[in-house]
Amino acid sequence: MSLLTLETTALALLTPGKGILAMDESMPTIGKRLHEAGVENTPGNRRAWRELLLTTPTLSEFISGAILYDETLNQSAHDGTPFPMLMNDCGIIPGIKVDAGAQQFAGHTNEKITEGLDHLRDRLEEYRSLGARFAKWRAVITIGPGLPSRACIEANAHALARYAALCQEAALVPIVEPEVLFDGDHSIERCYAVSRETLHTVFEQLHRMGIALSGMILKASMVLSGQGCAQQAPLEQVARETLRCLRNTVPAAVPGVAFLSGGQSDAAASQHLNAINVLARGMHAPWRLTFSYARALQHAPLQLWRGSAQNVERAQQLLLHRARLNAAASTGRYTPHMEQELAA
Ligand code: 13P
Repeated sequence: MSLLTLETTALALLTPGKGILAMDESMPTIGKRLHEAGVENTPGNRRAWRELLLTTPTLSEFISGAILYDETLNQSAHDGTPFPMLMNDCGIIPGIKVDAGAQQFAGHTNEKITEGLDHLRDRLEEYRSLGARFAKWRAVITIGPGLPSRACIEANAHALARYAALCQEAALVPIVEPEVLFDGDHSIERCYAVSRETLHTVFEQLHRMGIALSGMILKASMVLSGQGCAQQAPLEQVARETLRCLRNTVPAAVPGVAFLSGGQSDAAASQHLNAINVLARGMHAPWRLTFSYARALQHAPLQLWRGSAQNVERAQQLLLHRARLNAAASTGRYTPHMEQELAA
């Protein structure tokens, strides 16, 4: 493993004023998203959508890297340029989702364990040869009555650490993603407690597995009130609780945290990220705090595109607009009036 390679890639992904585009939806998830936009889930439509995203002019001003799904890493733009090559040409670092999805956790109703460790070493070698420079593995933690169980947190943290060790061995920067779901009617205090326990356990496992913290990125959920909670915590509280959670669990050697959007609206995801960065600046937080959004970047452009070539340019403008707002939020420079400005 070359630590220098890992650190250089991690820092490039965390370039100030940029974030990561997550476009690594698995087959069932992309099918759902396309269906919601009235687009048939065919290989051609998936390829066309992902080409639209990656060929958005000047996207690399705001996006440092993009996470692909296995199918996309092997696909090409309509002119035959393989997607990883197209990305390198425009300055976007190719990454790859390598987990095999969250499955029912045996003996634990309503809980999930992420699978995909079998033969992962071989797959990582192949992904690297295809141009990937970083990877992602998502674990899912559900909040509910009596949930999460300690067993679920520990099993997922252990799998994340084994994945991270294999990535670093293969000179791929691991994005370690323990997602605490936004679903449910829990309070922000409950989200804080679960997020803290989860992150604490994940870093304990990363430590045991000997992970070089300077050569990884944490992908975390923000500390929020549950989506169905009647009392939604205001921006400042979300920022305060999110930073309190990170400060209590994430070592300073980790170069950055890239948040997921988790089902928040596009504007809320920008506003929360901005509030977190404004507060972090005053606290001299040690990490870069940016975004690795899927839904909060793709939702509006996908609804506009609807599978029609005529809408490609306008959909790309919407993507660029939201990427620009999130990039501003990643340095605490987002303002609500920017919501009205569409990229030129
Ligand atoms: P969302 O931003 O839609 O939560 O997705 C991020 C992601 O990559 C989940 O793994």
